[in-house]
Amino acid sequence: MARFAGPPATRRRKTTTPVVAILKPTQPEFRRMRVEDLDAVAALETVAYEFPWSRAIFADCLRAGYDCVVLSDGSALVGYGVLSCAAGEAHVLNVCVAPLLHGKGCGRRIVRRLIDIARWQRAERVYLEVRPSNPRAIGLYESIGFNEFGRRPNYYPAKKGREDAIVMAMELLAGE
Ligand SMILES: CC(C)(COP(=O)(O)OP(=O)(O)OC[C@H]1O[C@@H](n2cnc3c(N)ncnc32)[C@H](O)[C@@H]1OP(=O)(O)O)[C@@H](O)C(=O)NCCC(=O)NCCS
Repeated sequence: MARFAGPPATRRRKTTTPVVAILKPTQPEFRRMRVEDLDAVAALETVAYEFPWSRAIFADCLRAGYDCVVLSDGSALVGYGVLSCAAGEAHVLNVCVAPLLHGKGCGRRIVRRLIDIARWQRAERVYLEVRPSNPRAIGLYESIGFNEFGRRPNYYPAKKGREDAIVMAMELLAGE
């Protein structure tokens, strides 16, 4: 009889943590941008910028050997970044996050990744240009440690004529 009575009461009451509660939600991950990504990258660029880069510009960046990364959740493109590095200086050429995912820390992750890549290539300084009319990007760069370095007058096309660029720079200290 006892053999068919089931587990002892104490065992039956024991609860186990559901697996979903101990797994973190999937974090988008970085990988190198590939030619197969270019359509999605160009599509995101078009919705994110008023004056977007063309698909051909991204293709040129890949051909030129620039460091082009995408942040992907496995099935969809979350964002991307492009960095050029030469002679101890790195230049952030593009950082973009899908508009629906703004404000969730993805932009910060992409910029930090580009800075890591610059460090791995022993760059001593990272530069970037940003529109004065882009407070979100300026806020992001300042919070990471970039400072205004100068201005390039009439650098960008704008709805009404041209817009200056703020040039920002960040020193990469050895061993940091
Ligand atoms: C700029 C951009 C990359 C930021 O990406 P994001 O994922 O929204 O940024 P994050 O969530 O990582 O925000 C990081 C920081 O940016 C700053 N920031 C974000 N929104 C801001 C706003 N509206 N105003 C000022 N600063 C802001 C904050 O410092 C924020 O840090 P916090 O959340 O700890 O306060 C994104 O808005 C984007 O793709 N814009 C279109 C393309 C573009 O303009 N690229 C930059 C070209 S120079």
